[in-house]
Amino acid sequence: MDMSWKMEDNLPVNVREYQELAKKALPKMAYDYINGGAEDEHTLRENIAAYTRIILRPRVLVDVSKIDMSTTLLGYTMRSPIIVAPTGGHKLAHPEGEKATARAAASCNAIMVLSFSSSCKIEDVASSCNAIRFYQLYVYKNRNVSATLVRRAESCGFKALLLTVDTPMLGRREADIRNKMVFPRSGNLEGLMTTDDHDTDIEWLKSITSMPIFLKGIVTAEDVEAGVAGVIVSNHGARQLDYAPATIAALEEVVRAVAGAVPVLVDGGIRRGTDVFKALALGARAVMVGRPVFFGLAARGEAGARHVIEMLNGELEVAMALCGCRSVGEITRSHVMTEGDRI
Ligand code: FNR
Repeated sequence: MDMSWKMEDNLPVNVREYQELAKKALPKMAYDYINGGAEDEHTLRENIAAYTRIILRPRVLVDVSKIDMSTTLLGYTMRSPIIVAPTGGHKLAHPEGEKATARAAASCNAIMVLSFSSSCKIEDVASSCNAIRFYQLYVYKNRNVSATLVRRAESCGFKALLLTVDTPMLGRREADIRNKMVFPRSGNLEGLMTTDDHDTDIEWLKSITSMPIFLKGIVTAEDVEAGVAGVIVSNHGARQLDYAPATIAALEEVVRAVAGAVPVLVDGGIRRGTDVFKALALGARAVMVGRPVFFGLAARGEAGARHVIEMLNGELEVAMALCGCRSVGEITRSHVMTEGDRI
């Protein structure tokens, strides 16, 4: 067991320090766009704060000389349960945009989800490196636009679709309103209106693609739908409905409703390996991380994005070892105590 932690070349040692670097590196308008949430930003704070109220219950009498963080999703083996969430406009952070993020994710053997609002073309991201990638989609009233993008993603080898269902209209992000933020032109589309009938969207999507479909943006048991490959508990990084629940607080309700039928993922507020551990203990198969990777990209380009993913992997490994879990399968509900458990 290595008992020493060394600081590498004065690099940041955690996600928060990357956030500070990104804030210094970016124009205010870009930083506010990435960092901001809706209205009072109550949910934005809660996404993070709710993790701090979950306490770990370590088991120490376990041989943890070997830790295996690998897990599977749709039959793919991932090195760790950390996925790069779809976030739009990476050229705001770095001229190489999503191509740099894709290379960073690939070098960590992490799945990246490319946003519908990517600032690089699907084809350019796909040809930038070899990796398992998923594509995030909104279904637009003009379905031809969505259909074309689905076909392009499929022919570029993307393995799954994430249909984002929490954005029938854009949330009010007041920093962007104040800054008169204009979103940079997407590499793939012009701004169009989304539809609001997602049941029909799923059936339609299934008719045009063989890619499995995940629903992204579920925070209640009532919205759990049959017939999808997975469910992602997400409140869009608290950028849509303020006072929506913190995602980690909504996770167990959704996990119970899904009842093991398909994998459940969660995103929002994950800043530490211990957060990943808590999400897995509460039933998530994997987690997605949005802003931290964006901050890494803004601070140090591809190397920064890679370092953020590796730091989170390293923190998860330590959390697993110190909780006595040798594999992700050994992380159980009894390794955490929530506020509800304490009442
Ligand atoms: C997002 N998110 C997002 N989601 C999506 O489905 N399509 C998109 O285009 C975007 N774009 C986007 C841009 C930016 C700048 C952010 C911060 C977020 C939401 C994203 O997928 C994810 O749900 C959150 O980022 C998770 O929260 P954290 O990790 O940022 O706290």
